[in-house]
Amino acid sequence: MQNLDRLFVLTGFIFVLVGMALGLMMSGRQDFTLGGLHAHLNLLGFVFMTLIGLIHHAWPKIRESGLAKVHYLLHTISVAVSMFLLYFVLSDPAVYGPKFGPFMDASLGATYLSVLLFVYLFWSKAKD
Ligand code: HEM
Ligand code: HEM
Repeated sequence: MQNLDRLFVLTGFIFVLVGMALGLMMSGRQDFTLGGLHAHLNLLGFVFMTLIGLIHHAWPKIRESGLAKVHYLLHTISVAVSMFLLYFVLSDPAVYGPKFGPFMDASLGATYLSVLLFVYLFWSKAKD
């Protein structure tokens, strides 16, 4: 996919806008319960996705592979779903921990798989 590099960076911007808004909200209320959500929206969502976008830009051969699109979808969907569930788990661990925790862990496992997939794509395609 031609513009996958741009898509990664733009998706990262969406995550950082949500993450920063949450940071401002935590700061305004002086309630840091959702700190872990803020940190991972910004790091797993924005920093990591921007880095992947820049890697795609530097080694264009990676995005010629059909697996690159699968990787984009796997990373974006798994991070978005995990962060959505983490919101509930951190807001009320006693109620939502047992209910959503296992699904959140499965989704984070999918994020881990997406990183492994990207390592494979980089290793096999980024040779020059
Ligand atoms: C409008 C922008 C932002 C605001 C208002 C903000 C606010 C905050 C607040 C209030 C905390 C909690 C501090 C505490 O628990 O004592 C925090 C933690 C954190 N923020 Fe932000 N933040 C912003 C942007 C960012 C960005 C852009 C990133 C990363 C790229 C980031 C990464 C982190 C991390 C990693 C932590 C956790 C630190 C720790 O627990 O040791 N923040 N932020
Ligand atoms: C599957 C991926 C990941 C999982 C399951 C995960 C899980 C965790 C957990 C359980 C904590 C402790 C939270 C707490 O003490 O409240 C944590 C903290 C932290 N993680 Fe991650 N993490 C992941 C990926 C990352 C990545 C990719 C980065 C950076 C690029 C990162 C940066 C941090 C930072 C800065 C903290 C300390 C901030 C805080 O305590 O809220 N994590 N992570």
